[in-house]
Amino acid sequence: MNKIGLFYGPAGGSVEKIAEKISQLLGAEKVDVIHVQNADASDFNNYKYIIMGLSTIGAHTWNQDTPSKDWDWFVNELSKVDYSDKTFALYGLGDHITYARHFVDSLGILGKELLSHGAKIIGQCDPEEYEFIDSEAVIDDQFIGLPLDEDFAPEETDARLEKWLDILLQEFK
Ligand SMILES: Cc1cc2nc3c(=O)[nH]c(=O)nc-3n(C[C@H](O)[C@H](O)[C@H](O)COP(=O)(O)O)c2cc1C
Repeated sequence: MNKIGLFYGPAGGSVEKIAEKISQLLGAEKVDVIHVQNADASDFNNYKYIIMGLSTIGAHTWNQDTPSKDWDWFVNELSKVDYSDKTFALYGLGDHITYARHFVDSLGILGKELLSHGAKIIGQCDPEEYEFIDSEAVIDDQFIGLPLDEDFAPEETDARLEKWLDILLQEFK
């Protein structure tokens, strides 16, 4: 199997914890775990299979006037990535209670950006399996990636993650 590039941000919280869990579950030798703050488009071009992990901390995450060097900055790099022959899968941390109307919105913002470049994205999830009111991450009736809620549904994480990784492994050969 080609090595997987797992790009995540921010560091130090749930997104990073899940990145480490994915690496453990898939086998550390199969996954390069990279904080997106230390990456640019050329790093993406080293991988055929790419997992991206992020959280939603309000719209300002994406459109600051002076973006920090995280996903808000990296989104500008996405136009430089070569999308041919690459497969993407996304996971997003959110809070389905406090932010029920904006549940994992950033997952959708990143997903739409990738789709606008013609990216192949796998690992869509069924919204029926989640409680929330609205989300930008629902695209064509499916979550564009895997939503996880470590704030109010941490007990669901392991099963959701394992099911999602099984689907990814069928494609990541
Ligand atoms: C200021 C703030 C705004 C947030 N906005 C949203 C939101 O709009 N939608 C959502 O699903 N979660 C939202 N969250 C919840 C975070 O996405 C969630 O806590 C996530 O696990 C944080 O990931 P991290 O620990 O890696 O930073 C927000 C959290 C904070 C503190």
